[in-house]
Amino acid sequence: MYPSLRWVFGEVFSGKGPPPRPVIFIIITWNIIMHPRRTSWSKILIVLFILCLFSVVPLAILSYTNKPTFSDGNYDFIRDEGRHIRISGQHAYNFDSIINQDAAVTQWSFSQIDGGQRDGLPKPKCPAELLLLILVTSSPENKEIRNTIRNTWASIQGSPGHKYKTVFLIGETPDYDLNIAVNREIQTYGDIVKGAYLDTYRNLTYKVLHGFHWASTSCLSQYYLKTDDDCFINTMYLPKFLVSHNKKSEKLYVGNVFSEKQKRQVIRNTDNRWYVPKSHYAPDYYPKYASGTGYITSHDVLHDIIETSQTVPPFPNEDAYIGVLVDKINISPMNSFRFTFHNTKWSTCNFRYLFQVHQVNSTQLMEMFNMVKKSQTMCGNEKLITSWN
Ligand SMILES: *[C@@H]1O[C@H](CO)[C@@H](O)[C@H](O)[C@H]1NC(C)=O
Ligand SMILES: *[C@@H]1O[C@H](CO)[C@@H](O)[C@H](O)[C@H]1NC(C)=O
Repeated sequence: MYPSLRWVFGEVFSGKGPPPRPVIFIIITWNIIMHPRRTSWSKILIVLFILCLFSVVPLAILSYTNKPTFSDGNYDFIRDEGRHIRISGQHAYNFDSIINQDAAVTQWSFSQIDGGQRDGLPKPKCPAELLLLILVTSSPENKEIRNTIRNTWASIQGSPGHKYKTVFLIGETPDYDLNIAVNREIQTYGDIVKGAYLDTYRNLTYKVLHGFHWASTSCLSQYYLKTDDDCFINTMYLPKFLVSHNKKSEKLYVGNVFSEKQKRQVIRNTDNRWYVPKSHYAPDYYPKYASGTGYITSHDVLHDIIETSQTVPPFPNEDAYIGVLVDKINISPMNSFRFTFHNTKWSTCNFRYLFQVHQVNSTQLMEMFNMVKKSQTMCGNEKLITSWN
């Protein structure tokens, strides 16, 4: 909408309270135009001026702000419908056209969500011949849980041949101080992949796609595991399992797959967090897919996911969206009970079996980490399960 119209009517449209700008605006304009001493010529001029204010000026502003990006040298801006949010040293694009909830997306590109990490912020370094890359979606404010992850399951040294790496996926925040804190964390740990999308729940799909794209171009690995920061990952057993027991090194997409009975209906209620408009995904049900709390793909599948994402408009339900892409490339999801959706009371020896546990807070992460370590010696007589189930 035109910025000047927004100024006048913004409060009316957004339903927010005073000042009643339309009324003030009409009274002032009316008084200026109808002033007794005005000649009819000056009245015409004033009307022309107002018309200009509401057509030519906004058009000029719009054509300027619709450029993909602009910068004053030190700062870049993200645009939020005409307003500019200033983010120190960061870089972002106008997404309105590609993430608009109702407009069908026909084309988008990775360059639109890339570029969150400039100005000397280090990108994660990836060792050669990586076995497993773990991508953890996280929010800018979750520093405590990231630190716990760094000190627990992500801290285990993978032996040569079992090399794995953990990185966090984070987006932009308009909160200036928080943004600085995230940048500092990037400097300190170098394990964050920051994208140029606003870090919101409905942008999660872009977060995952950005992470996958970064992985496929800058951090090649044999397998990729996508998980969230409220999950425990069994890095003590999983890499070894992948090397010694996994028979599917290609066409692999495995995790907690919703069964036929639990088939997910597409939510059309606009108030719902997982709302997806028909213009983005028309069928009533999603194909079977793995929960975003934890799934593993082989390299070829990740590559195909990225390629296919260019032809399927992203919708804001990240795991279902990845499931739709995987379905398109004719890979059938494999369910594994070693990936859990609900956290129950697990015993120490269960950790010889479990690969991923969901709904875990900092305290529980530390407990589980200790259990995993203990399970190596304590459960000596129990046979190690060598299949996905
Ligand atoms: C997603 O990120 C873009 C780019 O930063 C932003 O303009 C947009 O408002 C975000 N969308 C949602 C639904 O949060
Ligand atoms: C983590 O969850 C457990 C069990 O729900 C709870 O008792 C504990 O207080 C939580 N800890 C934190 C740090 O939130």
